[in-house]
Amino acid sequence: MAEKRNIFLVGPMGAGKSTIGKYLAQQLHMEFYDSDQEIERRTGADISWVFDVEGEEGFRLREEKVINELSELQGIVLATGGGSIKSRESRNRLSARGIVVYLETTVEKQLARVQKDKRRPLLQTKEEPRDVLERLAEERNELYREVADYVVRTDEQSAKLVANQIVELI
Ligand code: S3P
Repeated sequence: MAEKRNIFLVGPMGAGKSTIGKYLAQQLHMEFYDSDQEIERRTGADISWVFDVEGEEGFRLREEKVINELSELQGIVLATGGGSIKSRESRNRLSARGIVVYLETTVEKQLARVQKDKRRPLLQTKEEPRDVLERLAEERNELYREVADYVVRTDEQSAKLVANQIVELI
């Protein structure tokens, strides 16, 4: 890699974006950011609070703004929220401002990962988590592919190895 271009990780919740992103940033001596964490930092509240008070629409506006601003930085690794690619504006910005890597996984793996973390508001419904994740995958997987420069599977090897694979690819 000639210069430090931004690396943007996209993919569904439970794909390992934050864990892999941190390894990647460490290896490449880049700054790591996470759009959810940035929203939490700016609002001083957690994501579920934002969903409760402002609805998904309010959350998406904040997410779009954070992605717009962070993607203008230089030499960062950014883990984006799983739904951020629903915004055409965010997709365009990510493509224009860095290398986009889609972390692809299976619903099985997602379930194993997200069940350890109960904070995801889209899973706090009566609908079974598996059904939610399958529905979201149907709605979004094409969008992840469309925006991605590279697609890397995360269900077959450890986060560290996936990070190594990305370093080799880019
Ligand atoms: C969401 C994914 C979450 C978070 C919010 C909505 C989504 O981020 O942004 O709960 O729409 O898929 P992660 O992908 O980091 O879990």
